[in-house]
Amino acid sequence: MRVGIVGFGTMGTTHAASYQRIADCELVAIADIRPERRALAEEQHDVRSYATLRDMLSAEALDVIDVCVPTFLHREHVEIAAEAGKHVFCEKPLARSRAEGQAMVDACRKAGVILGVGHVVRFFPEYQRAKAVIESGQMGNVGTVYTYRGGGGFPTAWQDWYARYEWSGGLTLDLIIHDFDFLRWTLGEVERVFAKSTWGRENNRMEHVLVSLRFANGVIGNVEGTWLDLGTFGTKFEFACDEGLLTHDSHWSSALKSYQLQSAAHTGKPGVAVPESPMAIDPYTLELKHFIECAREGKEPMINGEEALRAVEIAVAAQESIKTGKPVRLERG
Ligand SMILES: NC(=O)c1ccc[n+]([C@@H]2O[C@H](COP(=O)([O-])OP(=O)(O)OC[C@H]3O[C@@H](n4cnc5c(N)ncnc54)[C@H](O)[C@@H]3O)[C@@H](O)[C@H]2O)c1
Repeated sequence: MRVGIVGFGTMGTTHAASYQRIADCELVAIADIRPERRALAEEQHDVRSYATLRDMLSAEALDVIDVCVPTFLHREHVEIAAEAGKHVFCEKPLARSRAEGQAMVDACRKAGVILGVGHVVRFFPEYQRAKAVIESGQMGNVGTVYTYRGGGGFPTAWQDWYARYEWSGGLTLDLIIHDFDFLRWTLGEVERVFAKSTWGRENNRMEHVLVSLRFANGVIGNVEGTWLDLGTFGTKFEFACDEGLLTHDSHWSSALKSYQLQSAAHTGKPGVAVPESPMAIDPYTLELKHFIECAREGKEPMINGEEALRAVEIAVAAQESIKTGKPVRLERG
């Protein structure tokens, strides 16, 4: 499979490294609007580079486009790739809104291309194991669940786009969507959402969010996310079950840790914290390997557009609750 990446910032760099580890797959080209990023990609990966996705598509024969531009540009780039008949892998969150996400899903279905989305947490072994343990029933029924994600301070990136709510959706859509997706994958549909945030529109570098989820099966979840913690990036979960607690804390659970922040593409300063795993094959490579296999065989990936859209719906409901101060009921719950 011949792959082109659009957006060679923090995640584009991570994905480019992963493709080097996947057999039967070749990273052929990258597109980035910044000349210095194009020069770096050429130097590091021996690829050809272009300023835009359209330029890359007209010059290269590609099978897969990997969309790593900022969130507010996902729709445009996924639709261009789909119209060109390419399979698309898109970083999470799928879209800035439900309507945007639905349009992307429809565009890929219409074009007959495979759409996969980067909810990489499903490829972290501690999360996979937790889901398996819960589903086995060995812990009994789940009563409540708590998750945490944050640290590393506020992410810096191209055009400071994480700080622009209209572009990133803030912490709720950008960061803790990972936990919404994981919890829905493990516990089923969410019925109701209530959320409170320090609210990031004017002061979004200081955002801290608590989201309460009521699942259709009666479980209550509390999802906490923060950009206030300047310490090491970390994740936690705690399932309280009939037979005891099932917990994880990335600060103590891994035998080997890397605490390095990815450097922001344009400044050399720390960019966005990208959780690391000491596994021989890291979760980012596993998710892309899975997607490449699906694209090659014409199979639906585990996290297709529809799955990713469900996570966007929960995040958007939390945003609405933050705005109105009221609980929000999800139609499908
Ligand atoms: N899965 C994860 O763990 C994870 C972690 C961090 C970020 N993300 C997601 O990845 C996406 C990218 O985030 P990032 O931190 O890498 O951002 P970034 O700012 O570091 O990189 C974005 C890149 O896109 C380029 N770009 C902007 N507009 C473009 C255009 N029109 N055409 C070509 N290139 C363009 C910029 O020059 C920049 O290099 C976001 O959706 C973010 O939410 C996912």
